[in-house]
Amino acid sequence: MARELTAAPMAEADLDQVLAIERVSFVTPWTRAAFCYEIEQNKVARCTAMKSAGRIVGYLCLWEIGHEIHITNLAVRPDFRRRGIARALLRHVMDGARQSGVELVFLEVRPTNLEALALYESFGFRVIGRRKGYYFDTGEDALVMEARLDERAEPKSGNQTAC
Ligand SMILES: CC(C)(COP(=O)(O)OP(=O)(O)OC[C@H]1O[C@@H](n2cnc3c(N)ncnc32)[C@H](O)[C@@H]1OP(=O)(O)O)[C@@H](O)C(=O)NCCC(=O)NCCS
Repeated sequence: MARELTAAPMAEADLDQVLAIERVSFVTPWTRAAFCYEIEQNKVARCTAMKSAGRIVGYLCLWEIGHEIHITNLAVRPDFRRRGIARALLRHVMDGARQSGVELVFLEVRPTNLEALALYESFGFRVIGRRKGYYFDTGEDALVMEARLDERAEPKSGNQTAC
């Protein structure tokens, strides 16, 4: 588990570090302009950056619309993976969502992304649909996952990381 994790809204000053993580994490990474739009203009968007010793080690972006959240991005710095950072980010978001009356959390994930699938399933997400050819870069389908916050949506196992 990474120690002394702090979660805070992503700022423009974070973007060099965020983009370095983004580019090694995804086949089609978000651009700087995409992150700027989400953190500065998109009224329904929220991006949270997780820091350890002042360095960004992961981040999660979402849209909150009414009583629903759609997770749009999640990545952890490769040398900090398997230390509970994604779990801490998701818990931070899910706990906040539950407190503010959000009922449903959605996301899309590639069927081949087994580590992300295991993470989401441990939070109570389940597959509710499949979008054909959703990922234009590889032509892969997307699995659509949903977690209902009125049901059990806590990790089934693994490290408990405060943030
Ligand atoms: C998916 C990702 C965010 C996980 O981040 P992480 O900080 O390493 O995850 P955590 O340490 O919090 O792990 C939480 C759980 O996820 C699952 N998991 C994470 N990495 C895994 C791996 N390599 N293999 C299998 N399961 C894995 C496990 O269930 C794990 O719980 P455990 O450690 O108790 O077994 C990270 O691998 C990543 O950034 N991947 C590239 C970007 C990406 O795919 N994002 C998701 C897009 S939908």
